[in-house]
Amino acid sequence: MNILDRADEVRVQLQNDLQQAGNDPQAGENLRIKYLGKKGLISALFTEFGSVPTELKKEAGKTLNELKKEAENKIQVLKERLETNTAREDFFDYSLPGLTPNVGHLHPITQSLNRVISIFREIGFGIEFGPEVETDYYNFSALNFADNHPARDMQDTFFIDDNILLRTHTSPIQIRTMLKQKPPIRILAPGRVYRNEAINPRSHCVFHQVEGLYVDENVTFSELKTTLEVFAKRFFGNDVKIRFRPSFFPFTEPSAEVDVSCFICGGKGCRLCKHTGWLEILGCGMVHPNVLKNVGIDPEKYTGYAFGMGIDRTALLKYGINDIRLYFEGDMRFLEQF
Ligand code: DAH
Repeated sequence: MNILDRADEVRVQLQNDLQQAGNDPQAGENLRIKYLGKKGLISALFTEFGSVPTELKKEAGKTLNELKKEAENKIQVLKERLETNTAREDFFDYSLPGLTPNVGHLHPITQSLNRVISIFREIGFGIEFGPEVETDYYNFSALNFADNHPARDMQDTFFIDDNILLRTHTSPIQIRTMLKQKPPIRILAPGRVYRNEAINPRSHCVFHQVEGLYVDENVTFSELKTTLEVFAKRFFGNDVKIRFRPSFFPFTEPSAEVDVSCFICGGKGCRLCKHTGWLEILGCGMVHPNVLKNVGIDPEKYTGYAFGMGIDRTALLKYGINDIRLYFEGDMRFLEQF
């Protein structure tokens, strides 16, 4: 094997060594010694050069010089790479801000529920809870829904069997409360409710309501109105306008729906308020005599008012959120804002 072939071999070996150098900061210097050191492989070729036949000298000299240059360059590049690597690993920037641990907090809906509860607590309302899985009796029949009322339709209600369903509103808690307490009754009942509805920016199949019920002698519609006005101003601020619209619910007579002026557009009309300037926040009315009869309360002696408020949409208004679906997506970028 002549010196040119051996030079080729050394070049191939050097290539392999460079590829396998890894991240050891010593690797560059080790290779320099192995190839270019006094007893290195390339230096050995130069020693041998003395005894190369004259006709090969010119070519061999050129080859060895090129090989030496190549080795010097490549080993230098390797050394620089390894040095900057270690520099980066060892470097610590003490001016970086610290890592703050994430602290959890209440969901915006829970915060709104708590706020509603605390306003009514101050007015003298107690708190009641009821089951989310209800029977037809509490959710519909006792509340004076006719057998063929459309709300009983599968389209609206998640039925578990003919008699058992996911409550579609918090109104069944009215019945449960009146069955176990005698008037005067003044309660607030918060909870999750379910409806078989398409999900869009304004509605969801799971949402939250707060039910209110006040039954006593001589309870009047004007008391209902005043109470709700006081609530709306406390919850949304003194500038908010509210309006009552006549409506129908099987369990109240007369019935009304209450709207508040749209928070996002200030009443001008936007996507959230469907360009009406108003948002419906609750249904209310005077407890229907049939409902009082169903729970054994004498409608000749007692009257009452009731209301049911959707919390999700109410919280939208309060926080200026324009899409109800954000509540359920668990996106930290949304939740962290509350
Ligand atoms: N339960 C009704 C609903 O979900 C809301 C409601 C309306 C509740 C009138 C009431 C009421 O207590 O009096 O749409």
